[in-house]
Amino acid sequence: MPFVLLLLLVGTTPIGQIFYEKTKESLEGPRGEAFKNRPESPPPFLKFEKAEKIDLPDPFDVEMTLFEALLERRSRRSYSRDSLDLRELSNLLFAGQGVTKRRKKFLLRASPSAGALYPIELFIAVKRVRGLKPGLYHYSPSDHSIEYLRKDGKLWDRLYRASLWQRWVYDAAAVIIVSAVVDRTRAKYGERGWRYVLMEAGHTSQNLYLMATALGLGTVAVGAFADDEVSEILNVPGVYPLYLQPVGKLSR
Ligand SMILES: Cc1cc2nc3c(=O)[nH]c(=O)nc-3n(C[C@H](O)[C@H](O)[C@H](O)COP(=O)(O)O)c2cc1C
Repeated sequence: MPFVLLLLLVGTTPIGQIFYEKTKESLEGPRGEAFKNRPESPPPFLKFEKAEKIDLPDPFDVEMTLFEALLERRSRRSYSRDSLDLRELSNLLFAGQGVTKRRKKFLLRASPSAGALYPIELFIAVKRVRGLKPGLYHYSPSDHSIEYLRKDGKLWDRLYRASLWQRWVYDAAAVIIVSAVVDRTRAKYGERGWRYVLMEAGHTSQNLYLMATALGLGTVAVGAFADDEVSEILNVPGVYPLYLQPVGKLSR
């Protein structure tokens, strides 16, 4: 396509449609346009060498059936001031991105992932979890632990503001920040990888919903937030925040 025509097209087409067009797969499959310009593969795991590591308790089986959890699942936005237990946080993170099977170098997870590349990274802003200092943590699926990244006296004010003052974000005992190292997937799938990563955030969020429901906790997927503000809170290059998932005990 001539350059001027392309500029004209880009100038008038809504950005979402350009995204759809540029990430399309054709019958050429991986030889197609969207698969060109792939970055180098980043490491498969984020490593925070200096962070204090906290082993999570083993995840436990829940009594609620899948069918009951599906029927019960709702977006809950009203939380009490009670703390979460570490076991509850452990189960939530396990449902989101926990390792459920080790197959050669692949650590297969509770949520599916294109090419088993697992771009999704879970960060946890902790306000009230028994046994944890308040602050920002990162989930390490390979050994089911969390890493304490930093204390941040303003964390809650910053998150509340970044969520455009959604009260349930402020009231939550913890907020799971579903994020992604998009280049893990782009390294294999080029620009189509963006679609896959967004889909994977959805899978992860649904697992968090179902586990929260089974544990009698409340959660809601929050997609409306100021991206740059959340990126600043995370402060990890190459990581894109995709969802905020506040969690709390249900208020009676
Ligand atoms: C992509 C996405 C973004 C959402 N963003 C928000 C949000 O920013 N704030 C909020 O309170 N709920 C948000 N929700 C929750 C929806 O409002 C909720 O799923 C919908 O009202 C249906 O209710 P239910 O989840 O209880 O079935 C979001 C849901 C999805 C799937």
